[in-house]
Amino acid sequence: MDGAPKASILLVDDEAKNLYALRELLGSLEQNLLLANSGEEALRCALNHDLAVILLDVRMPRMDGFETARLIRERARSRLTPIIFLTAAADEMGSVFRGYEVGAVDYLVKPLVPEVLRSKVLVFVDLYKKGAELANEIAERRLAEERVRQSEEKLRALAAHLITVREEERTHIAREIHDELGQVLTGLKMELMWLAKRLRDGQKPLIEKTKSMFRLIDLTIQSVRRISAGLRPEMLDEMGLVAAIGWHAKEFQRRTGVRCRIKLPHEGETLDKDLSTTVFRIFQEILTNVARHSRATRVDVEISISDERLTLEVVDNGVGISSHRLNDGKSLGLLGMQERALRFKGEIDISGSPGRGTRVAVLIPLAGGKA
Ligand SMILES: Nc1ncnc2c1ncn2[C@@H]1O[C@H](COP(=O)(O)OP(=O)(O)OP(=O)(O)O)[C@@H](O)[C@H]1O
Ligand SMILES: [Mg+2]
Repeated sequence: MDGAPKASILLVDDEAKNLYALRELLGSLEQNLLLANSGEEALRCALNHDLAVILLDVRMPRMDGFETARLIRERARSRLTPIIFLTAAADEMGSVFRGYEVGAVDYLVKPLVPEVLRSKVLVFVDLYKKGAELANEIAERRLAEERVRQSEEKLRALAAHLITVREEERTHIAREIHDELGQVLTGLKMELMWLAKRLRDGQKPLIEKTKSMFRLIDLTIQSVRRISAGLRPEMLDEMGLVAAIGWHAKEFQRRTGVRCRIKLPHEGETLDKDLSTTVFRIFQEILTNVARHSRATRVDVEISISDERLTLEVVDNGVGISSHRLNDGKSLGLLGMQERALRFKGEIDISGSPGRGTRVAVLIPLAGGKA
């Protein structure tokens, strides 16, 4: 045979000469042959080895073959091990049925015909090896699946980490720009006022210069506000998610000309800051997509917050997202939205109908809290 691992075959007979004869007959199969000269010995052996097949003499003193087979079948390890009974021609028929009752798979009548014995044993050896191969394949597949699951988990954790880090970074930069530059610009404006007051009527060109400088400073202050709000809207921290969503939708309408109809809950909400940021970022991405891809003229935004869940629904009347875009798995904007929602065990439902628009619904469970 090939270099494959050997199968173990247990030979049981109380007569030594029969055992040795069996061993001689099966030697050419080149498998691992185990010998037992009693039922007790056979049981011990079956307890310690995984066996491909057991050749079991029916007539043995103390514990006969049937009793031995019954006990072998009771053990978990050998519950399914095939047993071939070896019986003398004389007690044939009666014992055949008893043998099948205790789980024999076959019978061989003595004197044994070597070719028949070998080919029958070989069938079970092959079966055993195929079973072992299959079990190996299953174990390997399980291992591979487990590895994929683990790496998915790691990627998810990494994505969540990146989102958090980016958000912290943005907040930090927004604050720096707002505070540092804001202060300097205000200082500059005051200095310029001081200067302007000291100019006389005759110094017209200088007065004009200061006026234009005031305009430039005001424009810069506006830019600073716009940049820092773009990085992190103050509104989100000061007034909460609902107000920030309303503000962003109005800004969106002003910038793009797409009419925005907003339906917001009246009461103020007390949402976790991290969750508010998450929903706000998802909302920004949805509206960016509307502006970029939808060719819509109208967007309906509705947010509702109950004890159990937060729901944000954005419906546009544009071209409608196509199903292959939805499922191609390479859309990073959509993927980012999903990842953000997943951090709070939430989900994002997107559907589009051609020529009629796109609906994006964000659902975040609230009672269970953060993931
Ligand atoms: N409101 C919408 N109407 C129509 N098509 C849309 C809409 N939103 C998304 N899509 C389609 O889905 C695709 C994937 O969107 P996604 O936000 O993932 O990527 P993107 O906007 O092209 O790039 P980015 O990664 O910068 O967001 C878009 O390219 C667009 O074809
Ligand atoms: Mg996008």
